[in-house]
Amino acid sequence: NRRPASTSDERGTGDELHQGVKRGERLTTSTGVPLGDGQNSLKVGDRGPTLLEDFALRDKIFHFDHERIPERVVHARGYSAHGTLECLDAIPDLTRAAPFQRKGKKTEAFVRFSTVAGNLGSADLARDVRGFAVKMYTEEGNWDLVGNNIPVFFIQDAVKFPDLVHAVKEEQDRGWPQAQSAHDTFWDFASLMPESTHMLLWQMSDRTIPRSFRFMEGFGVHTYRFIDAEGASTFVKFHWKPKQGLQSVVWNEALKINGADPDFHRRDLYAAIESGDHPQWDLGVQVFDEAFAVEFDFDVLDSTKLIPEEVLPVRVIARLTLDRTVDNMFAENEQVAFGTHNVIPGIDFSNDPLLQGRNFSYLDTQLKRLGSTNFTQLPVNAPRCPVMHFQRDGHMQTDPQLGRGTYEPNSLSGEDRGPRADVVHGYQSVARREEGPTRRLRAESFADHYSQARQFFISQTEVEQGHIIDAFAFELAKVEDPRIRTRVLGNLRNVHDDLARAVADKLGMPLPEAAEAVVATRTDLPESAALSIL
Ligand code: HEM
Repeated sequence: NRRPASTSDERGTGDELHQGVKRGERLTTSTGVPLGDGQNSLKVGDRGPTLLEDFALRDKIFHFDHERIPERVVHARGYSAHGTLECLDAIPDLTRAAPFQRKGKKTEAFVRFSTVAGNLGSADLARDVRGFAVKMYTEEGNWDLVGNNIPVFFIQDAVKFPDLVHAVKEEQDRGWPQAQSAHDTFWDFASLMPESTHMLLWQMSDRTIPRSFRFMEGFGVHTYRFIDAEGASTFVKFHWKPKQGLQSVVWNEALKINGADPDFHRRDLYAAIESGDHPQWDLGVQVFDEAFAVEFDFDVLDSTKLIPEEVLPVRVIARLTLDRTVDNMFAENEQVAFGTHNVIPGIDFSNDPLLQGRNFSYLDTQLKRLGSTNFTQLPVNAPRCPVMHFQRDGHMQTDPQLGRGTYEPNSLSGEDRGPRADVVHGYQSVARREEGPTRRLRAESFADHYSQARQFFISQTEVEQGHIIDAFAFELAKVEDPRIRTRVLGNLRNVHDDLARAVADKLGMPLPEAAEAVVATRTDLPESAALSIL
C-alpha cells in the first residue's frame, strides 16, 4: 500500500503482489478466469437476447452495481494524504503516549480534511467548518485526533448532534441546499440554541472559507487527558498550527472559485504534495490541571468554550508533514475510519458530554458505512504494530486468527496460558472518582453562551468584523421566515450591539430586544426565552 509519488500507471504486472492478489496482463473475471471476449455479451444468434448463462457479464455488472457505499453521515466530502508526525519536544513527564517519548521519534500518520455539511459531490469552498482528522499509527495502536479547524463547537451535549445535523443538511422536503448553512432550518435551530452563538461567530468569520487545507489550523476541541507512566493525569487540549500560516479567501472569491473549480481544495493539496511542497503543522498542547480548570468561570468540559492562548500558551511538541498523496480515493479517503474512541496508552477522555457521545457514534456509524466489523483490517485502518486478540469471523474476514484457542486464557495457542493483557504496560483508564445523582439537567457551569462570542468578535480587526457582519447578513437574507431572523438578531444583541445593529441595518430590519440571556440548559428554557422576544 505504499508507493513513491508518481503519475504513471502502477497496476503492476506479472508476479507482483498487490494486497495478496497477483496482477496479470490478461483480462479476467473476478475469480481469475481469462476472458475470451471483453467487448460482447453472450447472445443467441446474431441479434438475439442475452443469456443469463453469461457469467462474465454477470460478474462484471454485479460488482459494478454494488460499487457505492453510504457516504459519511457528516463530513462526506473530504480529501486525504499520508505523512509523518515527528516529536520535537519529548514529554514523558506528562504522558506515556508513544509518539512523545523521544525527541526525533517519527510516527506514521494519515490525515483527512473535510467539509461538514456538504454531500460527497459538493463544492470545496462552501462556508462551512472543516474537519481535520489525524490517524497516528503508533507502536501502541492507532490514535485518532478527530478535530475541526474551529476550536469550539455548536452544541454542548451529543444528544443534540442529530438535531444539529438535520438542521444543517439539505432540507428533506426539497433536497437543498447541499452545502450551505444559508437556509431556514439551520438558522431556526441556531436561533433556538443560544449555546451555538460562539460557534456561529467563528462560522461567520473568514475561518470557514480557508484559502486551502494547507492554511488552516486544527483543534482537538475537547479537553482530553494525558496520563503519565505512574497513572497521574493532566488535562490537555490539542492544536495544529500550519507552518504555511493561516489564510482565507473572501466570500466573493469563494463564490467564484466554487463555480470555476469545485475541487479547488483537493487539487491544491494534491498539487502541493506532488510538487514536493510538503505542508506542515506544529502539534501543540495546552496542559492544565484541575486546580487551574476551576479558576475559569466556564467549564473546561464545555465544547462551546476555549481556553485563551494568552492565558495558557500552546506548547509545541511535534510536527506533522504530509508528503504522500493517496493512491486510491476509495481505499483510503472513503474507507478510512476515524473515531475519538481510538486512543492509546497515555491518552484518555474527559467527561465532556459531547466527547462521550462521539466515542459511541463513530464506531457505530462505521459498521453501517463500511459494512463489516472487520474494517480495522483494511490497509488504511490496520495498525502498524503487532495485533493479538481473539476476535474471530464476521463479514469479510481477511486476517483470521490461527490455531485452536480463540479465547482467553487458553493454554493451546502459545506458551503457558497464551497471550494475556499486560497489567503494567497495557492501556489503563485513568483512575477517578465520580459521584452524584443521575440527572439530565445541564450544569450551571455550562450556562454562559455569550461572553466568549463577544471576546471573539472584539478580538477581530475592523476588516474581519466587517466580514462577519456581511456573512450574517448574507446568510440571514436567504432565510425566508422573518421570525428566525429576529431571533438571531436578539441573540446577537447579547454578543455585541454594534454587531446586531450592523446586521439588522444590512437586512433592513429594526433591531429587536435582546434575547433574555438565560441559562439555556433546560429543555423548556431556550424556546420560552427565545420566543419571548417575538
Ligand atoms: C465525522 C469532527 C462532533 C459524529 C467527523 C469527521 C470529523 C469530525 C473531522 C470526519 C472524519 C473523517 O474525515 O472521516 C467532529 C468534531 C466534533 C464532532 C470536531 C465536535 C467537537 C460529533 C458528534 C457526533 C459526531 C457530537 C455524534 C454524536 C460523527 C459521525 C461522523 C463524523 C457519525 C461520520 C464518521 C464516519 O462515517 O466515519 N466528525 N465531530 N461528531 N462525526 Fe464528528
